[in-house]
Amino acid sequence: MKNFISVKDIPNFKKALEVAFDVKKSPHAYSHLGKNKTLVLIFFNSSLRTRLSTQKAAMNLGMNTMVLNVNEDGWQLESELGVVMDGDKPEHMREAIPVIGSYCDIIGIRSFAKFQDKEDDYQEKILNQFIEYAGVPIVSMEGATRHPLQSFADLLTIEELKSKPKPKVVLTWAPHPRALPQAVANSFVEWMKETDYELVVTHPEGYELAPEFMGDVKVEYDQKKAFEGADFIYAKNWASYISYGQILSKDFSWTVDAEKMALTNNAKFMHCLPVRRNVVVSDEVIDSPNSVVVQQAHNREVTAQAALKMILESK
Ligand code: CP
Repeated sequence: MKNFISVKDIPNFKKALEVAFDVKKSPHAYSHLGKNKTLVLIFFNSSLRTRLSTQKAAMNLGMNTMVLNVNEDGWQLESELGVVMDGDKPEHMREAIPVIGSYCDIIGIRSFAKFQDKEDDYQEKILNQFIEYAGVPIVSMEGATRHPLQSFADLLTIEELKSKPKPKVVLTWAPHPRALPQAVANSFVEWMKETDYELVVTHPEGYELAPEFMGDVKVEYDQKKAFEGADFIYAKNWASYISYGQILSKDFSWTVDAEKMALTNNAKFMHCLPVRRNVVVSDEVIDSPNSVVVQQAHNREVTAQAALKMILESK
């Protein structure tokens, strides 16, 4: 595997899952693979899980890691070509990226959607510059449109917990006070489409995800109807794609609560975290035995290690 940006980068989906199960069973069995290799993690945005789990995954493989929080520790980076750089950004990505690449063997990069221009975000301008100029493999730690490390962990969690071959998996929009990117939802749909699961997406009108991610995935606008018989409920807020970056609704009737969970087939509750309690999900649901958010977050370490292992083995 050269880069890890989307599920399409994985040469063999089933094999990747096997690698994740193997790594979970024996996290230190491959500590020779990363000897004398360095992973640089570049953050343009905040993180708890991605930062720690990816570093831990690299350490399990014997890699060294270096972290740069661009907006706090580094020079502000210009990304547009051909601009007169007389503003507040003293360094261009055109130099910064190959310089970073010269210090390491793999780069992880987190760069969220900016919500200024839909096309800029959906073209993944920052990630693609890293792919073009770094000279080393790139791992997306959440781009503008996808969060593959999260989706890989979500998949592993469902595989560990499912009690039937084709569980009903429901991705539900939930309210939030801030405009959040569509990356987790897009990516979750993209990964679920590679499985045999029954996938249903539920959200208020106006929150339709980009057609290139949804394809023919079923949309059910009635959240309660969508929850009926579900085996997994995955809650996530996202801002509108159609009215790009806008918050169209903060309707608390979409909060996942015990009454709605009672409609399911004793479903597990999933969320990528961080989550706003009693906005996205009630305390009762997230504190219940059916909540698997911590297992999901732990699996971030496992699947980050699987992704790094597949890249190291291809180098
Ligand atoms: N789920 C996730 O990516 O968490 P962080 O934003 O804390 O990394």
